[in-house]
Amino acid sequence: MKKIIALVMALVIVALCGVACAEAAAPKIGITIYQFADNFMTLYREELVRYLTEDCGIPSENITIVDGKNDQAEQTNQIDGFIADNVDVMILNLVQSSSAASVIQKADAAGIPVVFINREPSAEDMALNGNFCYVGADARQSGTFQGQIIAETENKGDWNGNGVVDYVMIMGDPENVDAQYRTQFSIKALEDAGLKVNKLFEQRGDWDQTKGQELAATALSQFGNDIDVIFCNNDAMALGAYQAIVDAGRTVGQDIYLVGVDALDECQQMVNDGTMTGTVLNDHVGQSHTAADAALKAAKGETLEKYYWVDYVKVTK
Ligand code: GAL
Repeated sequence: MKKIIALVMALVIVALCGVACAEAAAPKIGITIYQFADNFMTLYREELVRYLTEDCGIPSENITIVDGKNDQAEQTNQIDGFIADNVDVMILNLVQSSSAASVIQKADAAGIPVVFINREPSAEDMALNGNFCYVGADARQSGTFQGQIIAETENKGDWNGNGVVDYVMIMGDPENVDAQYRTQFSIKALEDAGLKVNKLFEQRGDWDQTKGQELAATALSQFGNDIDVIFCNNDAMALGAYQAIVDAGRTVGQDIYLVGVDALDECQQMVNDGTMTGTVLNDHVGQSHTAADAALKAAKGETLEKYYWVDYVKVTK
């Protein structure tokens, strides 16, 4: 009997230790997203947490994910909090990419690796010392795809037949390279295809649907039928622009073109229905998984590469 009791106790001890050891082995991860209200980053963060917990087996209590509320001061406090809590790794979607340098230095001093996502720090900051990386997609590619989508239409983006692609550009937050490159490379792709271009209007809509609608409405009332194409740096703003196009009595695919980036579900549906000319898949699944894998490696003490790239994909009917 004594032997059986001893055996049972030994088994209980081993089982308890097993649980404790597994918990001790799971890293603590601090994540901050520039703004929870952002459509695309909502898909991204939900998949990131799902993948970490369900596929990688990280207990959800080990993951802290907070909303930067598009406020760099607030987000800096969050990052300082992660460092004070001694997390094992941070996954950071900065409000302002220009804050990367100070974050890299603080994290390095605390010995905490960092995975930057979605907002690419400058090449200069990426050259600093520390165990950190950037996981993202090359925004030049998404811009190029947008331009190609228009260059490949039957009338080559020229509805009014004046031999020029007259366009409106609705930009994201210009502090972000995604906005800068998409704006630049969409037009470069038109020019590379041998087309003449004419910029009628260019303003920042900060990735936001309501602002996209307001700006498109302003442009449509100012330039009317002169507009051949509305380029939006993302789908949320394209959804807004679509509403303004309808309100102005114009019809996508019949007298105007509309392109975005992200391939949100509703925009894929619109491309299928012909109410949007095209979009570009911003692969939040690939990016979130790559970011999580890098973070888990770094938490185990492995050295990160500087960049992990995920491809964009052109989406047309
Ligand atoms: C872009 C995305 C936008 C917005 C932005 C936030 O990659 O296309 O919709 O989410 O990131 O930084």
